[in-house]
Amino acid sequence: MDFFIDTANIDEIKEAHAIGVLNGVTTNPSLMAKEGIKGKVEVLKHYEAICKIVEDKVSAEVISTDYVGMVKEGTQLAEISEKIVIKVPMTLDGVKAISYFTSKGIRTNCTLIFTAGQALLAAKAGATYVSPFIGRLDDIAYDGLELIKQIITIFDNYGYSTEVLAASIRHTMHLIKCAEIGADVATSPLKVIISLLNHPLTDNGLAKFLADYKKVEP
Ligand code: E4P
Repeated sequence: MDFFIDTANIDEIKEAHAIGVLNGVTTNPSLMAKEGIKGKVEVLKHYEAICKIVEDKVSAEVISTDYVGMVKEGTQLAEISEKIVIKVPMTLDGVKAISYFTSKGIRTNCTLIFTAGQALLAAKAGATYVSPFIGRLDDIAYDGLELIKQIITIFDNYGYSTEVLAASIRHTMHLIKCAEIGADVATSPLKVIISLLNHPLTDNGLAKFLADYKKVEP
């Protein structure tokens, strides 16, 4: 399973990259706003900076809602680097834009997926990734992980090459379950990735090893 980091924070992207387990980055307009990035020029520069850190797969989201605007904006984002994946919302114009980008060989990530039907439509349009939002479904008492399973089954039934990118991940169990179910990618905040390290028996075990080593030190 590929690990993406779900942030627009440069320091966090650098930190995750330095660990050596990072396969890509996802951003969204809320995450960009959190970093104070505003206006087209700043946004393009920020994506350029992210692309300098990671090897590939940087999702850059369009904010246009109409087909023409999405195509124009996405084309401009794609010109920043071959690493850019155009993130397009699950709307009718969005699906049309995905079909357009697919015909041009530009990779896409269809975002705001909450049903298997939406994922199927995006796959038929040739999306490189679909992003089902696990956490936001859990928030409204639906089973986000069940949706991941359902989408994987459908894609496997017909051999769609579209990858299932589990998004809106809130904790390590989401991440581990995604790997168990067979999601292609999981995008998570840095703290969730780092939290995979944690177990009190690991900490206690290490402390004991070091203490025992010191006992016999010359
Ligand atoms: C990533 O592609 C999504 O935009 C992101 O995971 C949404 O996460 P949230 O539900 O925590 O905002």
